[in-house]
Amino acid sequence: MDRFYLSRISNTSASPKKKFPIDSPDYESSELGRRPASSAAAEGDAAAELRSAREDVKQLLKSTSCHPILVRLGWHDAGTYDKNITEWPKCGGANGSLRFGVELVHAANKGLLNALLLVLPIKGKYAGVSHADMFQLASATAIEEAGGPKIPMIYGRVDVVDAEQCPPEGRLPAAGPPSPAEHLREVFYRMGLSDKEIVALSGAHTLGRARPDRSGWGKPETKYTKNGPGTPGGQSWTSEWLKFDNSYFKEIKERRDKDLLVLPTDAVLFEDSSFKIYADKYAEDQDAFFKDYAEAHAKLSNLGAKFDPPKNPDLPSSPRQDSLNHGTHVALEYALRIFSFAGEYGRYLAGEAAHQHGLLVAEGLEAEPAMVGSHASLPNSSKRQVLVGQQQ
Ligand code: HEM
Repeated sequence: MDRFYLSRISNTSASPKKKFPIDSPDYESSELGRRPASSAAAEGDAAAELRSAREDVKQLLKSTSCHPILVRLGWHDAGTYDKNITEWPKCGGANGSLRFGVELVHAANKGLLNALLLVLPIKGKYAGVSHADMFQLASATAIEEAGGPKIPMIYGRVDVVDAEQCPPEGRLPAAGPPSPAEHLREVFYRMGLSDKEIVALSGAHTLGRARPDRSGWGKPETKYTKNGPGTPGGQSWTSEWLKFDNSYFKEIKERRDKDLLVLPTDAVLFEDSSFKIYADKYAEDQDAFFKDYAEAHAKLSNLGAKFDPPKNPDLPSSPRQDSLNHGTHVALEYALRIFSFAGEYGRYLAGEAAHQHGLLVAEGLEAEPAMVGSHASLPNSSKRQVLVGQQQ
């Protein structure tokens, strides 16, 4: 197998055994999910590809309950946007940069490798869907499938092409800053978002959990998370954390249940007088929350995006038959590349942080002695089956 993912963009090849210190140029330019060269021919029909990719995401959600982490993936790709920088892609935002190792290892992104490993096999089937589109499609579909509102999405985002185009670390919000309201405004105003949008988007925490071994927040497990679904553990904001509704606002307002999480940046939504207007409204009126959430989510998904041209999966189109067969072939190629990357990435992380990801379970394989948690190296053996279900 070639070392495509681990090669520098300049095509210098990396040895299969090579480790990637965080500041190494080889590591920085490593890319998870670069389009295999052979897929370039299969452009197919853009809207049909988007629809088909959306169906694949729905199947993935059914089999893995990975809704929350897909939402977090889309948010973290888009949320690096800086409206004060006019040049693309220096402005950051929804441009697929999160697939590069250099950005994936930002502290705020801990755990998101799991999300990439889930969506990239789907991305690999659709040459006409960019990584940036794939991340946003996965996120919006996860919200909708969890019972949330229909998000008025458009697609056609252009991807950044190398690691040097990734944003600097530190553009995403911290959960426990000294002045949470001030911090949220500083970060979200930089993205061009308003108080109303800050509150509405925070409502995405109706889904999912925080894990001490990723963000450092939350309990190791609660009565709501100890049995999964998905990888057990963590602390959720709501009791039904795979259902998108307005219970996040109700729970934070009432604070009745010690098993539910309230981050300082969640609590401030009911403490700051401007945020509170919206938080109170959303706790009372789910329809109002859904309406504002859908608008804010769509806006977030477009931050910093360059569209070429804008596409809408819900418009009629005529799918090309051959793109399906080709897509299957490309998906297989993609899967092989991902597992290769994962092995290298796992080896790199093993020394310090592999236990914090806990995502890959290789059936019939013993983890290498240096590996901890559920990480295992992924040798290029077709006889060994890699299970990626239940990752989130
Ligand atoms: C307002 C500032 C925000 C802060 C400080 C924040 C912080 C966090 C933290 C600390 C976690 C736990 C991560 C982990 O331990 O795995 C988390 C998870 C999550 N965040 Fe946020 N977040 C913010 C805004 C958002 C927004 C705008 C969205 C989406 C629109 C979002 C969606 C999610 C989701 C869905 C999860 C659960 C992920 C999972 O279960 O794997 N967050 N967030």
